[in-house]
Amino acid sequence: MTTSRHLTPSDRLIVNFDQALRTIFGKPQTTERPDPAAELDDVTLSEDERRVAAGLMRVNHAGEVSAQGLYQGQALTARLPDVKEKMERAALEENDHLAWCEKRVKELGEDVSLLSPFWYAGSFAIGALAGIAGDKWSLGFVAETEHQVIRHLDNHLQRLPPQDAKSRAIVEQMKIDEAHHATVALEHGGAALPTPVKKMMALTSKVMTKAAYRI
Ligand SMILES: [Fe+2]
Ligand SMILES: [Fe+2]
Repeated sequence: MTTSRHLTPSDRLIVNFDQALRTIFGKPQTTERPDPAAELDDVTLSEDERRVAAGLMRVNHAGEVSAQGLYQGQALTARLPDVKEKMERAALEENDHLAWCEKRVKELGEDVSLLSPFWYAGSFAIGALAGIAGDKWSLGFVAETEHQVIRHLDNHLQRLPPQDAKSRAIVEQMKIDEAHHATVALEHGGAALPTPVKKMMALTSKVMTKAAYRI
């Protein structure tokens, strides 16, 4: 990952395409952190509870696919090497989230969103545009995205079955990580986004969460 600065533009496109395929269809590179749910016991859920938990964890997985698209899109166009490195580290941590959510969705007897390639492609384009807009906007965009994700995760903690300790442990750890990503982005000069942009982002994620809850 850190060698990407020395790649030519066409090399970078190939690397990005490989990352896209691994995000959507394969096993993306993760950190060494353990799955927060690994040590916890699975509990019996009613059919309704299982369906709600699977739907919410599928939404979280789709959000992480989008996060990958955003980070990879930004890494392609961001100017400062320091920002690129920070984004690549955060993207790696998002891969942990991606892997944990996918595992949990499958444990709950369902599959990840069929629309994943669409979430990735759309987010990649938005991320690349944010990167082109400049580093302070691109970092501001990361911070705002993470703040909105944290609000979603809080909402999920209210809706997840109270006894579903595995899903809850994953969401709790994600909340900690996303808050850290937002702080890092702001510390590196992220600017506050204009309100209309924030509203557009909230609207886009609303459409995504509604769709990914079902498909
Ligand atoms: Fe994440
Ligand atoms: Fe994040």
